[in-house]
Amino acid sequence: MSAMQRRVPRIGELAPLIRFRRPRLNRTARHLESALTVEDLRLLAKRRTPRAAFDYTDGAAEDEISLERARQAFRDIEFHPAILRDVSKVDTSREVLGAPVALPFAIAPTGFTRLMHTAGELAGARAAEDAGIPFALSTLGTASIEDVAAAAPGARRWFQLYMWHDRDRSMALLRRAAEAGYDTLLATVDCPVAGARRRDSRNGMSIPPALTLRTVADAAVHPAWWFDLLTTEPLSFASLDRWSGTVAQYMDTMFDPSLTFDDLAWVKSQWPGRFVVKGIQSLADARAVVDRGVDGIVLSNHGGRQLDRAPVPFQLLPEVAREVGADTEILLDTGIMSGADIVAAIALGARCTLIGRAYLYGLMAGGQAGVHRVIDILAEQIRRTMRLLGVSELAELTPQHVTQLQRLVPRR
Ligand SMILES: Cc1cc2nc3c(=O)[nH]c(=O)nc-3n(C[C@H](O)[C@H](O)[C@H](O)COP(=O)(O)O)c2cc1C
Repeated sequence: MSAMQRRVPRIGELAPLIRFRRPRLNRTARHLESALTVEDLRLLAKRRTPRAAFDYTDGAAEDEISLERARQAFRDIEFHPAILRDVSKVDTSREVLGAPVALPFAIAPTGFTRLMHTAGELAGARAAEDAGIPFALSTLGTASIEDVAAAAPGARRWFQLYMWHDRDRSMALLRRAAEAGYDTLLATVDCPVAGARRRDSRNGMSIPPALTLRTVADAAVHPAWWFDLLTTEPLSFASLDRWSGTVAQYMDTMFDPSLTFDDLAWVKSQWPGRFVVKGIQSLADARAVVDRGVDGIVLSNHGGRQLDRAPVPFQLLPEVAREVGADTEILLDTGIMSGADIVAAIALGARCTLIGRAYLYGLMAGGQAGVHRVIDILAEQIRRTMRLLGVSELAELTPQHVTQLQRLVPRR
């Protein structure tokens, strides 16, 4: 074997190979840029946020099986691409509940959002406005209905209602939301009582955060979060009085376990815009609300935060889409961690999806810039997945593009 010939390297040949990145002075911007997935943002969020706030977001009810299964169900799909289609252009826009959206997802309503990052709902609404996607404000939001509208006047705004004991106050909220230009109401129906969020109980999670020895120790490792919390507007609720107690206690004072379909019909009669029921978990209940004339349903188990071991919404989707898809718009959430998950849901009949934790991981990782980053990551994944499947418009996605592989099957 002949010996390899070596020579002295010439500096001039190295120059074209050098790609040193221009150093970024802003650490947050640098970290956000290097996050390629929602999971990367989750890990960044975990480093930057005190444990009680991170766990409140990341956690779910009881043994957290609902959430784990929902995420697994998205991983357990097989895509079926078509070849040699012209995908030089790709369009991710469509009409959802009577108005256009630029991407097939909206920001889900989440409570206590300023606890995760003080920029809170205003950051979410502004990022949604820039991206052309809807932003849903929760009854338990930490910015007011009017402040969100003023911060993002061009965003499509949805309001989420927990119907509670005091009907007059619920109705006052609806009036304010309608006056402030919110076009859609999401009535959440999966919370007769609060789910058992064990991480919160173990962390002694309370609103506002209590200064225990543990939280003081935590402040030492998350100084930026505590500085933000203590130097901005105190945490309070969009729609309610100030509160001091645990999250579960708070929820239980609000939720009305005696609600029935008649109450739902009454709320619907009070709302002038589109009316959507959030938290549908069976075909029978989907039919029951569609028969009552709702404009849309959200197949959701509340991100696994209520009943543990509840049905996985993504697995209910094909049957519900077949049976009631022609009569109502089906939205879906729980477990979405990538743009490919969203494409799969659209292919199986969802008109649109909602993202809860994915948005909050972005928010915790970097405030408004973090929400922009998560939207960009999802948008890029959606566009790439569509092209690789051989489709250039959402309407071309069909159930033939996706097989749901079954890990657990019912015992008959
Ligand atoms: C921290 C947190 C707070 C939430 N608060 C509300 C709420 O106030 N009202 C509501 O209808 N849903 C609430 N949800 C549920 C979300 O709207 C959504 O259904 C769920 O997050 C979807 O699952 P995902 O987190 O896997 O995307 C909350 C979810 C999280 C993670």
